[in-house]
Amino acid sequence: MFGVGDVDSPLMFVGEAPGADEDEQGEPFVGKAGQLLTRIIQTMGFRRDTVYIANILKCRPDTPGQTMGNRKPAPEEMQTCLPYLLAQLDIIEPKVIVALGATAVEGLLGKTGDGITKLRGRWQQFRGVPVMPTYHPAYLLRNEALSEKRKVWEDMLLVLEKLGRPIKEKQRNYFLKA
Ligand code: URA
Ligand code: URA
Repeated sequence: MFGVGDVDSPLMFVGEAPGADEDEQGEPFVGKAGQLLTRIIQTMGFRRDTVYIANILKCRPDTPGQTMGNRKPAPEEMQTCLPYLLAQLDIIEPKVIVALGATAVEGLLGKTGDGITKLRGRWQQFRGVPVMPTYHPAYLLRNEALSEKRKVWEDMLLVLEKLGRPIKEKQRNYFLKA
């Protein structure tokens, strides 16, 4: 499962690996976390099909002996899939990459020593392309605190600014305390 969306998009989202729903439907980010990602994309003012969405891993990590469980990809698995991601980057040439969660950040930047809580909201670079690390939508589903939604949203505002997209006053204020 390589990715989905517009190959001419300036904006590319990179996740970790397909889960069960994605495996079944052959499309990245279609399960619960994916539906939240779609809402975030829409809240940014895009349609899902006008951005590009991919994962570090192109297939679901196997979980021998387990009926379910989305284990973290092994470094060798990420290495194996990297050429596909590089080929995608060559074709898409995004202006900005959003790295969703710690594993996506590790897949792109390698082990940085800084955790995702420290890295998020701070521009990084991958092969000359600005990378914005943020929390994975699955994290937002587990931790529904407004403050966490706001953090992800502030990262997305930085992305919109970098892309030179207009930001409405209303958009700036999403997920702030009343
Ligand atoms: N989580 C991911 O990181 N990628 C998907 O495609 C789905 C869930
Ligand atoms: N929509 C959400 O539900 N959460 C976000 O962080 C952004 C948009």
